[in-house]
Amino acid sequence: MVETEKVRSTAKHIKIIAGLIAGGVIIGFGVMFSGVINVAATYPHSSLTQWGLHTAMKQSVKYHASNISAPPLNQQDQILNGFRHYREMCTSCHLAPGVSSSEIRQGLMPKPPKLQDTANRWSPAELFWIIKNGVRMTAMPAWGPSHNDKKIWEMVAFLQKLPDMTKAQYEEMDKKAGQDDGDDD
Ligand code: HEC
Repeated sequence: MVETEKVRSTAKHIKIIAGLIAGGVIIGFGVMFSGVINVAATYPHSSLTQWGLHTAMKQSVKYHASNISAPPLNQQDQILNGFRHYREMCTSCHLAPGVSSSEIRQGLMPKPPKLQDTANRWSPAELFWIIKNGVRMTAMPAWGPSHNDKKIWEMVAFLQKLPDMTKAQYEEMDKKAGQDDGDDD
């Protein structure tokens, strides 16, 4: 008798939970189809959403990069070629010493970080993973489809130097690099 009551009460709880989930799903679809969600890039995330997204991104990068081991990154030609890639493909979003704004960066959400300030918060393996795979649902592209690992490590080698680089040193490197975009073709 007592056992039967227990079974009945468990069944009742399951029904309530299932009802709540179904209600949640219906409300979710309702909101999605109503069009009230503002997808404009000019409409900022709430600070809670921003924190959640960034935390998920950091944890994901840490997890996925944990098996990658970095090669030596100190050769001059490697760093110079990394500079060439960076100048060609990254400055429009991530800026550079002496470059404080760009037209594309002003319109992006989330705003691409200034890599001179943030590159040293990541390990070389983490930088490699981010550059190769990109970050979904942000403007950060995956460069893996267009660049082999050697070229991506060159970018990482340059990013090791960027945080301490002055505007004059960056300009000097710019001269040294010539017109080359760092690609072999
Ligand atoms: C069209 C804009 C755009 C371009 C071009 C771009 N990025 Fe990004 N990048 C972003 C955005 C946006 C983020 C922020 C992603 C996020 O908030 O999770 C980002 C994040 C990053 C990060 C993580 C930085 C941090 O502190 O969170 C690295 C490293 C990075 N990009 C490297 C590069 C490199 C190297 C290139 C060039 C090969 C490049 N990006 C080109 C938009 C861009």
